[in-house]
Amino acid sequence: MEMSARTIVAGNWKMHTEAGTANALLDALVAWSAANPGHVSMVVAPPFPFLGMAVEKAGSAGSVIIAAQNCHQEEQGAFTGEVGVPMLRSIGVQACIVGHSERRQYYGEHDAIIARKIKMLLKHGLQPIYCCGENREERESGRFREVVADQIRKALGGLVPAEIAKLVVAYEPVWAIGTGLTATPEQAAEMHAFIRAELCQLAGGVAKEVPVLYGGSCKPENATGIFRGDEVNGGLIGGAALVADTFLELVRIAGAVKQH
Ligand code: PGA
Repeated sequence: MEMSARTIVAGNWKMHTEAGTANALLDALVAWSAANPGHVSMVVAPPFPFLGMAVEKAGSAGSVIIAAQNCHQEEQGAFTGEVGVPMLRSIGVQACIVGHSERRQYYGEHDAIIARKIKMLLKHGLQPIYCCGENREERESGRFREVVADQIRKALGGLVPAEIAKLVVAYEPVWAIGTGLTATPEQAAEMHAFIRAELCQLAGGVAKEVPVLYGGSCKPENATGIFRGDEVNGGLIGGAALVADTFLELVRIAGAVKQH
């Protein structure tokens, strides 16, 4: 099943929570979502150990979409400590983050591997949430557009338009992730329009419907301006996704901004 709404607010819990806190956070999100069916898709990406519990809580109604934070590019095999896409599918996980800057930076995940992960996810019917974005030096030197275009072409260039139509893309300027710095609404709007144009070059008109999310220190205080960007279709939220009320406020803001 794919995300039903084009406006998406996704929470990336990274390596945070334990069983008790994950349980409580999931309960709060699922209860809110059941009471507030709306036009925003809520996606939650807990750590691997809590995915099964998360899928069970989200239930078959699919009001909350459960995503993994990573997967392996091979189907299965002798890869100690890794998690394969068929495993995720078999427990009902519907989506997976790929190409997050933390994985690029700390685990050497480069575009060729990312491209293979995306292919594997699509093969098994999981929706890839593909992250791209420039670092601080690339922003300051003015090379950021080229950098992001290059990431997109290398990771997505081997896909046919029908595959690109199944993606969610997240623009996450690395200098804004977990730093408290955020792109201004103008910077976000500009990059989202740029990414949309790149996607359309690769895939034609179907790329107009691909949700492009903003990520990087997004919180209720700055989300309204960012979400107003024409080509901003919601957010990928890290730190602010760990507190139910804050995350739900971001869902509400996205709903309010995108209704008009
Ligand atoms: P942040 O993380 O909201 O904590 O900056 C965003 C992300 O890395 O997806």
